[in-house]
Amino acid sequence: MSSDTTTKPRVPDSCCFVVFGITGDLAHRLVIPALYNLAESGLLPEKFCVVGITRTEIQSATLKDDLMKALQQFATRPIDKAVATKLFDCILSIHADPAEPGSFKRLKDHLERIAKTDGITNNLFYLAVPPNAFKPIAEELSKMGLLTDQPDGWRRLVVEKPFGTDLKSAKELNRDLLKLVNEHQIYRIDHYLGKETVQNILVLRFANGMFEPIWNRNHIDHVQITVSEMLDVGRRGSFYESTGALRDMVPNHLFQLLALVAMEPPSRFDAHSVRSEKGEVLSAIQLQSEDEALKNSVRGQYVAGRIRDKDIDDYRRTKNVSPDSVVETYAALKLTIDNWRWAGVPFYLRTGKAMSAKRTEVAIRFKAAPFSMFRATEVERLSQNYLVIGVEPTEGITLQFNTKVPGPTVTVDGVEMKFKYKDYFKSAPSTGYETLLYDCMIGDNILFQRADSVEAGWQAVQPFIDAWKKAGGNGLSLYRAGTDGPKEADELIERDGRRWRRIDGE
Ligand code: BG6
Repeated sequence: MSSDTTTKPRVPDSCCFVVFGITGDLAHRLVIPALYNLAESGLLPEKFCVVGITRTEIQSATLKDDLMKALQQFATRPIDKAVATKLFDCILSIHADPAEPGSFKRLKDHLERIAKTDGITNNLFYLAVPPNAFKPIAEELSKMGLLTDQPDGWRRLVVEKPFGTDLKSAKELNRDLLKLVNEHQIYRIDHYLGKETVQNILVLRFANGMFEPIWNRNHIDHVQITVSEMLDVGRRGSFYESTGALRDMVPNHLFQLLALVAMEPPSRFDAHSVRSEKGEVLSAIQLQSEDEALKNSVRGQYVAGRIRDKDIDDYRRTKNVSPDSVVETYAALKLTIDNWRWAGVPFYLRTGKAMSAKRTEVAIRFKAAPFSMFRATEVERLSQNYLVIGVEPTEGITLQFNTKVPGPTVTVDGVEMKFKYKDYFKSAPSTGYETLLYDCMIGDNILFQRADSVEAGWQAVQPFIDAWKKAGGNGLSLYRAGTDGPKEADELIERDGRRWRRIDGE
């Protein structure tokens, strides 16, 4: 999302796109198909090359074949041979491993040769690797002087989530990386910010005069943020055992949604202003004591059930999962934000695996009409006014309001006004990574997390991490796969006189 709102997307300056982890799942499923889509849209630099870093020596031709297979499997659009050939022609395999420091010298020599022969002097280092590799790789790059901006070329470092596993480790990682690169050179990816509807939250709020006056505690009763998945943990057992639903989803994806919905209007639409407001609101999330955190949260783990026509086994019987694991596959939290706009407005967040449906949405529930002058309808029976920002399964915005049922008596019923992206805009199917990769290349970090937001996010979830760790198996609720989560999560919101929206409804 270029912060330049007036012109057509510009073609980025020449660059060498260096991918660590080129043989991994992320590069195959997302990075290569997204680069292909950018190439097809004419949004790759005129002079461009992909340098795939491998830990064992692989011939460039072998790497190209392997990546072509990945493209054929994961492409979101029909493949145009000429576009693919041009992109794949520029792929080069280089063997480098932080465990063999000399190998980074080889990388440096290659990059210098590319600069000399092809005139490509800008380098982007994309770390599609497990988080424990971020620091060693960045250190080796830095030792070779490859992370220092040059007069004739920029240097950027792109890192994937998870950024730390708790507040302490996130702070350490920020500190370590910021010793080697400046903040403006780091692009911390949260793929939720690549989603069109998520980016649209800012436009909805700040390009329309009508929402902002009612976007506050005077008119909003509460906010629900839901990210439910039908996917079970599947083959990711060992990753999930060390992560769990809270760490995997909340301080990053759910908090990005929360920040965009709750932030103050930035004075300018640029990376500094937008990211400052996001950081500000995340650090205003009230820090709970461990007792409060236990009271205001529910963690669940799925047991065998059925999702659509597929049988799902207990989480504890998943490969690489301990048979007595207390890791949560579902988390629901009640949070509040300590500022003038949101004081007293609860934010209910929930996320889980193996649930009844895939649904990602932010639902803003407005306060009810104070009394009903329509005799046939008691105020309690009036439908609730929701503004729902839908990310999945339908991208769009829905407004729920009350209207008169046709007939001689005045009876009121709830209806919906729906805007669906696909009804208005044609867009070529994409991976969701195109905007993010494009922005890294043009140097716009508006959609990337800054160190302060990452730390503010971890700070807000830390009491839950600590309290759950101490509680162990106590307080872990089980839910059947294919349902909307544990009943305790219903109780969490119902004790405030509110209800979750249905997960598998339209
Ligand atoms: C990832 C998590 O960051 O996001 C996964 O690690 C999760 O566990 C995924 O499945 C969800 O992303 P999306 O875009 O499908 O909602």
